[in-house]
This record gives sequence, structure tokens and C-alpha cells, in this order.
Amino acid sequence: MYPFWEVPGFTSALFIALIASFHILPSHLATGAFWFNVFIEQKALKENRPDFLEFIRKYTLLILIFCFVYGSITGVGIWFSATIASPRSLSSLIHNYVWGWATEWVFFVIEIVAIYVYYYTLGKIDVKAHLRIGWIYAWAAWISMIIITGILAFMLSGGKWLVTGGFFDGFFNDTYWPQLFLRTALMCGIAGMYAIIAAGRLEKPETREAIVRLASVWGAIGTLLTVLMSVWFVVKMPQAAKDLGLGAGLPYLKHLLYVAAGGFGAVFLYFLLGISVPKVPGTYSGILMIAVLFAGIFATEGFREGVRRPYIINGYMYGNQIVASDVPGKGIKAELASMKENGFLSSLYFLPDEAKKSSDAGRLAAGRMIALHQCGNCHSFEKNARLRSLPVFLDRIGMTAEEDIAVFLDALEGYAYMPPFAGTDDDKQAAAAWLASICK
Ligand code: HEC
Repeated sequence: MYPFWEVPGFTSALFIALIASFHILPSHLATGAFWFNVFIEQKALKENRPDFLEFIRKYTLLILIFCFVYGSITGVGIWFSATIASPRSLSSLIHNYVWGWATEWVFFVIEIVAIYVYYYTLGKIDVKAHLRIGWIYAWAAWISMIIITGILAFMLSGGKWLVTGGFFDGFFNDTYWPQLFLRTALMCGIAGMYAIIAAGRLEKPETREAIVRLASVWGAIGTLLTVLMSVWFVVKMPQAAKDLGLGAGLPYLKHLLYVAAGGFGAVFLYFLLGISVPKVPGTYSGILMIAVLFAGIFATEGFREGVRRPYIINGYMYGNQIVASDVPGKGIKAELASMKENGFLSSLYFLPDEAKKSSDAGRLAAGRMIALHQCGNCHSFEKNARLRSLPVFLDRIGMTAEEDIAVFLDALEGYAYMPPFAGTDDDKQAAAAWLASICK
């Protein structure tokens, strides 16, 4: 185990969730926007509408700044925060998919070069050549999505990888195709919304309304298909994830789905408005609708991440980074049994000296380290915390005394959404002692 990253009261999980959900906007805009751009540029060419080029200039600049500044910062932010929040799971992903990421980054580089060339050559070079640059960007961006989706979907449904450890066995898993089409539909919805925001800055009402109407058609179809693909995705989810998300497992997950449906429903209606009365949608209402869309995305992501519990990589690694099962193809061994025998503390390379002492204070310090590592990825330890406060939860179920908590730690196995306790009886007592101390 690596050192633990503590974010008091908030948890590293919520931190990543915020960055990653925001990142969906620029990342999916980056993949979707140029399909709309080349569509408009082709129309400009065929129908002789030079006024459309003004939109393309504004839209491309918006993409350039939003995706390649905010998107890049949050992309790096995900890597950085996920690496320190859950280093072992990131390490597993890299050991399996480093060539997937390497391929994705090749297409990123193509995207970045293409968008700069596209923007700065608009109106300056032959129109057909310019359009070709647009196509290069559009395909490169979508291909990067084809690749990253495999790695993301692998985390929810590991497929045959769980036995073979093979790259493509994990990549083309049960939820791969629904996720790819879901993200492809979503990228059209997001591209449509940002196109309305950019079109709102156009001076000529006639051009503005023509673009708003076209963008709304894209957006409406994109949002509708996003919802349909989500249903396909849910159907393809592993049974345990369905039980957790749709059954009685964790009721709050169903509420997230209602929020998501509300968000996407409102966005769909906005697009319908854009189709029927294109002079109404504009920059400000578009920005407001991005906030609504973000609420829908945040809820959907919460659901997608939530149904994976108790795992961070389904079937393979628990949310607290302990390896849950053997992967014969890779020679990886489950860790629970050996931790029960040899203790959890021996897996901590960075154990503070204090926690090695046999005094009462030493035992509490050891208990704190165990609780941090085994509960801290999903829970916070402060009473007034934002996310799943343990003192509050333990109090709610009436287990705040050391002996009771030790019994509860044994009962963790019975919860569908939490990993079992890993360690010896001494470890359990130490963790219970510390948890009892924070309940006081
Ligand atoms: C993989 C994430 C995860 C880990 C790791 C985890 N929990 Fe939980 N825990 C949850 C979730 C999710 C809930 C349910 C939250 C809700 O009801 O909204 C929960 C609920 C609880 C509850 C309330 C149970 C009830 O019946 O109402 C307690 C107590 C609790 N956890 C203790 C712990 C302790 C102690 C640890 C560490 C040994 C731990 N959890 C580790 C995710 C986790």
C-alpha cells in the first residue's frame, strides 16, 4: 500500500468526482464539436453561405479555449488526483492499458495540431483543403474516444480479463458497446449546446437562427439517443451492479437516475424550443442549460461509479485498493486471506513509527492507519463531513462502542457495497478502538 491521501470532511472520492464530471463537458465537446463544424462548413460550401464561416470561427475558438485549456487542466487533474487517491488501482490500469493510452495520446496530438491549423487557416486556404483538416480532427477525436471507452468500461465490467488478464478480453467487455454509443450520442448533445452558445454571439439574426436550429436538431437527437443508450447500458450492466443500483441495495442510486432523467429531459426540451423558435435560445440561456446538463452528467457519473461498489475495478480490486480475487492469467493473487493471517499493517510501507509501538497510543495510531486505508476512500471521519461521515453512520446504527464496532467490522462482509475487513483480530480491535474514539 502507498501512503493515504486524506481530504478531511470531503474525501478524495468527491474531489475526483467533481473534476471528472466537469471533464466530461470539455472532453465530449472536443470529440463531438468537429462533426458539427464540418457539417456546417460543408453546408456553407454547398449552399454558398459564407456567413456560416463566422460561426465556425467563433465555435472553433470556443472549443480551442474550453477544451484545450479547461479540458486539459481537468484531464491532468483526474490523473493527478486519481493517482494519489488510489495509486494501486491506477497502477493496475497502467500495467494493463499503457499501450491503449499511448495510442490515445497519438490521436490527441493529431487533434491538437489539427485544431490550431484549422483555426488559423480558416478563410486563408482552399476551402476543400480546410474541410479536410476538419475531418482529420473529427476522426482523430472520435478514435481517441473509441480507445478510452474500453479502459473506462473495463473498470465496471472486467469480462474475461478477470481470468485471462488479456488486453482485449478486458477492453471489449459487456458494457463497451453501450458506453461507446452512449458517449457518441452525448458528444452530439454537448456539441449542440455549445454551438448554441457560440451562435448567440453572431450579429446577423438570420445566420444565428439558422445555426441555432441546426444545433438544436443535433442536440435533440443526441440527447434522445443518450437516454436510449443509457437504457441499453443498464441492461448490459453486471447483475450485482443492477441489484445495487436498481434493487433495494443503495436507494440513493435510484435518486441519482431521477436527477439525471430530469436534467437530460430539460435539455431535450430546450433543444425542441431551439428547433421550433430558434430566436429564443442564445448564449446566456445556453450557459444556464450547460449547468443543467452538468447536474444530469454528475448524477449519471455518480450512478456509474456507485454501482461498481464495493470494487474500484469490478471483480478484481476493492474500493480500498485491496486485491479481491486471483487473476490466473497474470499470476495475481487475492490478498484478503494473507492479510487475515499476516495482518494489514505489514502491507503499509509507510507506517508511522508511532503506530509500531505497543502502547495504547500506538494501538490507536495503528487503528487510525487501518481505518484510513480500509474505509477512507469512501468515508470521511469528521462529524460535520460532506460525504458519508463514519461517526454519524456508526451513531445512526447505534454502534459507537469499541466492542460493537469490532462486531460491525465482522459484519462488513454482509454488505453488498462494502469490502470485507482485511486483517487479524488485533487489527480489527485496533481499528475499532480508533473508530470508537472519533465517535465520542
Ligand atoms: C467502497 C466504498 C466503501 C468502503 C471501502 C467502506 N464503505 Fe462503508 N459504506 C459505503 C457506502 C456506499 C455506504 C452506504 C451509504 C448510504 O447509505 O448512503 C456505506 C455505509 C456504511 C455504514 C452505515 C451502514 C448502515 O447499515 O447504515 C457504516 C457504519 C460504514 N459504512 C462503515 C464502514 C467502515 C467502518 C469501513 C471501513 C472498515 C467502510 N464502511 C468501508 C461505502 C464504503
